[in-house]
Amino acid sequence: MKVGTEMGHGEDAVFTLRAAGAALVVDAAGPVPQVLHWGADPGPAAGLRETAAPALLNNSPDEPRRLTVWPVERDGWSGTPAQRGHAAGTATTPRPELVEVQAVPGRSGGGRIALRFADRVSALRGEIVFAMDEFGVLAVDQSVTRDLALAPGAAEPYTLDGLRVLMPVPDRAAELLDFTGKWCRERAPQRGPLRFGTHARRAHRGKPGHDTPFLMALGTDGFGFGHGELWTVHLAWSGESEYLAERLPEGTGLFAAVLGAGELLHPGEVRLADGERYDAPTAVFTWSGSGLDGIADRLHRRLRARASHPAEPRPLVLNTWEAVYFDHDMDRLTGLVARAAKVGVERIVLDDGWFRGRRGDHAGLGDWYVDEGVWPEGLRPLVDLVRGHGMEFGLWFEPEMVNLDSDLARAHPDWVLGPAQGLGPAARRQYVLDLARPEAYAHVRDRISALVGEYGIDYLKWDHNRDLLEAVSRRDGAERSSVRAQTLALYRLLDELRALHPGLEIETCSGGGGRIDLGILDRTDRLWASDCNDPVERAQIERWTRMLVPPELIGSHLGAARSHTTSRTTDLAFRLAASLTAHAGIEMDLQTASDEELERVRAWAGMYRELRLLIHSGRIVNADLADDAVQLTGIVAQDGAHALYTWARTATSPAGQTGRVRLPGLDPAARYRIRVRGDLGDPSRHQGRDPGWIAAAAADWIDLDGGVLAVAGVPLPTLNPQQAMIFELRRLP
Ligand code: GLA
Repeated sequence: MKVGTEMGHGEDAVFTLRAAGAALVVDAAGPVPQVLHWGADPGPAAGLRETAAPALLNNSPDEPRRLTVWPVERDGWSGTPAQRGHAAGTATTPRPELVEVQAVPGRSGGGRIALRFADRVSALRGEIVFAMDEFGVLAVDQSVTRDLALAPGAAEPYTLDGLRVLMPVPDRAAELLDFTGKWCRERAPQRGPLRFGTHARRAHRGKPGHDTPFLMALGTDGFGFGHGELWTVHLAWSGESEYLAERLPEGTGLFAAVLGAGELLHPGEVRLADGERYDAPTAVFTWSGSGLDGIADRLHRRLRARASHPAEPRPLVLNTWEAVYFDHDMDRLTGLVARAAKVGVERIVLDDGWFRGRRGDHAGLGDWYVDEGVWPEGLRPLVDLVRGHGMEFGLWFEPEMVNLDSDLARAHPDWVLGPAQGLGPAARRQYVLDLARPEAYAHVRDRISALVGEYGIDYLKWDHNRDLLEAVSRRDGAERSSVRAQTLALYRLLDELRALHPGLEIETCSGGGGRIDLGILDRTDRLWASDCNDPVERAQIERWTRMLVPPELIGSHLGAARSHTTSRTTDLAFRLAASLTAHAGIEMDLQTASDEELERVRAWAGMYRELRLLIHSGRIVNADLADDAVQLTGIVAQDGAHALYTWARTATSPAGQTGRVRLPGLDPAARYRIRVRGDLGDPSRHQGRDPGWIAAAAADWIDLDGGVLAVAGVPLPTLNPQQAMIFELRRLP
């Protein structure tokens, strides 16, 4: 075995990655290394290996079962294996053997452990790389490469059915949280005890879906936003995926349960001939000793440290969809743009309806040419108008889709994904374009690129409005499942367009928030969290979306008083408060707004510009409250000097008084200046008079000790349902 030396250990070494209070300890002794510890940094931990041998159980293999970093049957592992596959029905029991270890410390904490294996049963070379960043987030990359030299005469090819990363978690991680959802109700949390067996979530929609598991977490009993220990996994992948939490009676040997994720492969999708390689999507594991907010904090720091992370202030957006839908009329849009400019919008996005034949959702997808009937002079007049107001211009596309009623589908019916026997049912009257087909790919790339070039488009809203079903490609005369190839082609296309047009921003949308993952977020600059602009629903959707994604990447738009998707009617002030603390925008038809409403929207836009640096760089904190009808969410500057809290109520509750409520994330030893921000309008109350201090803080800044705000708490007003109050804090020197 070859051992890399940068960490200065000898053969059979124990390697530790540690950063920001988290640690991973791997025992690299062969034949397959194992995780000795993943969680809180134990400090100097000599003896971890010496204490690693578990009991030998009754009625079990004569060597204690253990979960290795590549769990297979050879090690007595009866749970979900790391790898599944076969070579024409043979080589079904993989036997990876360690051949090389390379461990490199990171410059500011963390580092990398690469473990390489040779498997003479599957004729595969395997690699698993643990990379911990300076924030303690662990990214795990796994790959296999077919190498017939390992088993001359082995059957060809090797069909890979699954490759997953499985990490051990201790017995105290007994409670499970993950997410489900549907259109307009994305990221609904579900939680309960981790039972024996496998809790598996399979995203089988050609994308993560509105019901994506998103972030699977195991935590100590009763964990909350601000307390408890948690272990989580997310798969950075926009295709199909599988997440699992598994608990067998024998545990993992050294631990109690397993948390893991991998790509969900279709039969025959990955067939490896000699020399061919499969790279699994990155599985992102995060541990926190300080509740869910601790997980979000590590993940947000990781994303914010990327070179590609948006650095400029996020412009206030107006998206035309709910204002005009398919009614693309220059006069109407001229009025809308003028009003947008008046309230302080900085970017106009022309949504669906601008391209050939697109008078409704039944036709046109694929024909990415400006509709000559609706736009006789092209988009030039609109683009000039927008730029004349000093705003950026964005355009909607749904590049991976095609309507059968389109010139594209008529000319190239074989570019539509589906079996030769005939297409299955449409969804939103559309089908999926076979992007893995080079001609189809080139068509879409060239059309988008031409329009971006012609109009100097600043921003694309990139939509994807249906699940993939029977995603069979007929390219090269064969029929093949093409979900993986489609996902890789999408990534290539995004990468290529960004390289062709530096500075172009892209938003990921999928019927709202149906495709949100760290794979697509590596190639896009913003996500559309949901088609639901109803602030009551939106508050929940965004709260949970923020578990993974920082607010500057989350699009949040002011909708109409009567929500287009739920029919709930809400006050302007509440809607404004709900869309302030993200990458803000407007979906409402400003042409129907009264002068007074426009004035409020203008004040909100000003407040957004004033506070966006804080909102887009601060740490998110959520108060753990017993009452589900209220939410207290804060954004605290990284240096602690500035903070913003939103106190919101969605329904009435039996309790009259709030009692003292603690503001999370503040320093008890500091002294703060606090005020109520009334810019958006006064929320209505369900009480005779506010708690005493509120009146003073509504009139001017008042000074309070951190111990009062963060430890004892302050009484808050009992608001009426669907109302919010915003507090701003400054730490006193
Ligand atoms: C999807 C998106 C919406 C809008 C429409 C246009 O539903 O989520 O925001 O762009 O498509 O057809």
